[in-house]
Amino acid sequence: MALLEVRDLSIHFGGVKAVQNVSFDIDAGIVYAVIGPNGAGKTTLFNLITGVYRPTAGDIRLDGESIQGKSPNQLAERGVARTFQNLQVCMNMSALENVMVGAHLRLDRNLFKAALRWPRLRQRDRALRDEAAGLMDFVGLGPYLHARADTMSYGMLKRLEIARALAMKPRLVFLDEPAAGLNPKETIEVDALVRKVADSGITVVLVEHDMKMVMNLSDRILVLDYGKKLAEGTGAQVRQNPDVIAAYLGTHA
Ligand SMILES: Nc1ncnc2c1ncn2[C@@H]1O[C@H](COP(=O)(O)OP(=O)(O)OP(=O)(O)O)[C@@H](O)[C@H]1O
Ligand SMILES: [Mg+2]
Repeated sequence: MALLEVRDLSIHFGGVKAVQNVSFDIDAGIVYAVIGPNGAGKTTLFNLITGVYRPTAGDIRLDGESIQGKSPNQLAERGVARTFQNLQVCMNMSALENVMVGAHLRLDRNLFKAALRWPRLRQRDRALRDEAAGLMDFVGLGPYLHARADTMSYGMLKRLEIARALAMKPRLVFLDEPAAGLNPKETIEVDALVRKVADSGITVVLVEHDMKMVMNLSDRILVLDYGKKLAEGTGAQVRQNPDVIAAYLGTHA
């Protein structure tokens, strides 16, 4: 059984059919890319799977169990985390505090229990801090633990978002354009980081416009166009698909 099964997923916003009858499977342990022109429905697909939007029709299963209608927090508990196309970093907090927000999202359900035993709460805070610091090291931000987010470069903040998502201890992480707006050097760093995340055993789903990065990282690729599935397969299969060449690669190559 695939880790994630998406069946006939659709959402309409008024007359806009942003995602239409899209089906695909994602096996555990792979890097899966979703590509397509601007407005193709990539972010909307992420929003549907991560519980931000409710689909008009269709089903989403994680480990064979429907996760339809679950909130982003409930999905976080089941090991689904994400980053955002537009940075969602708290600018007046330190880098470390931003990462700890991710850990708190995972643990809030236990907060009440923990609060009854407050000495353990302090211990837990200490453990979360150490864990967050470790993740900042992992994403290459080790020297910036106490930097205020608004003093950090855009490239650093993109990596900080990945650290925050990892603090939720996900099995499945959705990265919406992790390299958007980055220079070539920063893009190579993010490419290596995504590889590192995948090698740590986390299944990665990636939206990215940088074709070199997509082809380099992905085991399988889903191509969307006007909300519909245009093609799905390995990089080589997708690259040779005439519909894909016409609709997408042809205009970008
Ligand atoms: N909340 C919403 N209300 C109305 N329309 C929406 C909403 N969210 C997305 N759309 C529309 O759905 C379509 C798909 O948008 P989406 O953001 O998913 O595209 P995308 O593939 O992520 O594009 P990009 O590459 O530019 O990020 C667009 O026509 C968009 O305007
Ligand atoms: Mg998008």
